[in-house]
Amino acid sequence: MVKISYQQKPYRRAIMQAFGADVTPSPSDKTQAGRSILERDPNSTGSLGIAISEAVEAAATSAGKYKYSLGSVLNHVLMHQTVIGEETLRQMALAGEYPDVVTSCIGGGSNFGGIALPFLRENLTAGKKTRLIGVEPAACPSLTRGTYAYDYGDSVGLGPIVKMYTLGHDFVPAPLHAGGLRYHGMASIVCEMYDQGLMEAVAVHQLETFQAAVAFARAEGIIPAPEAAHGIAVAIREALAAKEAGDKRVILFNLSGHGHFDMSAYDAYFAGQLEDYEYPQEEIDRALSALPQV
Ligand SMILES: Cc1ncc(COP(=O)(O)O)c(C=O)c1O
Repeated sequence: MVKISYQQKPYRRAIMQAFGADVTPSPSDKTQAGRSILERDPNSTGSLGIAISEAVEAAATSAGKYKYSLGSVLNHVLMHQTVIGEETLRQMALAGEYPDVVTSCIGGGSNFGGIALPFLRENLTAGKKTRLIGVEPAACPSLTRGTYAYDYGDSVGLGPIVKMYTLGHDFVPAPLHAGGLRYHGMASIVCEMYDQGLMEAVAVHQLETFQAAVAFARAEGIIPAPEAAHGIAVAIREALAAKEAGDKRVILFNLSGHGHFDMSAYDAYFAGQLEDYEYPQEEIDRALSALPQV
């Protein structure tokens, strides 16, 4: 588990332990990949890319004892998630509505792809004009500030290279609470959509997402995960823009998870301890200079 999430999301860790898992904060000294990162930065808070490197190495060196399964980023994961969008199309039909805007948070791309791809199909084949908006953190802006290039999906370079919008595989993001959105790259199908202008991307700051999350909780009685709150923030922005323009706008967003195991993040927000992070351009430039040459 990424070290900063291990610290920020103790109850997620406890759930895994309750089901019998041993949970190790990454970077760890249990793999060559982890040790190489710790040698360079003993205080590394970790990243999804580093955790993937360690998991791939652990599986590859276990003589078949462990298998590694990626939960996002790969196109087949997004395809499985499209059950969300397919179901939503039917639910919208039952409601007698069709969305003008579909939005959700975007980390590796699976929940966004899941809800947006069936609506993209309708745009491409049935003349619909739904705007599809992926929402990423300003602290980890892969689409809005990354480069479209071949890069490794993991930090150490154990996996294959993939063409994607990337902040560089050794990018280590700021410790914002939406841990699931701190990935340096993005699913290649989402990147191709963005490159072809078939979707939009927006980067939002952490405090706006928590304001949106609390407004949503008070209106709907559901506490959203900090990741999901990114989609909510943009749904609210779209609703306010429609109100200002005097438009009727049907806005659909995907609630990718509840926040019951993220209450320490809400605690920090209510105590006024959360801050916004803007990722420095020099850091992005440095990480991009290490892209594989193809
Ligand atoms: C609640 C939640 N939403 C969204 C994400 C982002 O992943 P993806 O972009 O693959 O949907 C995560 C990742 O861990 C998550 O935990």
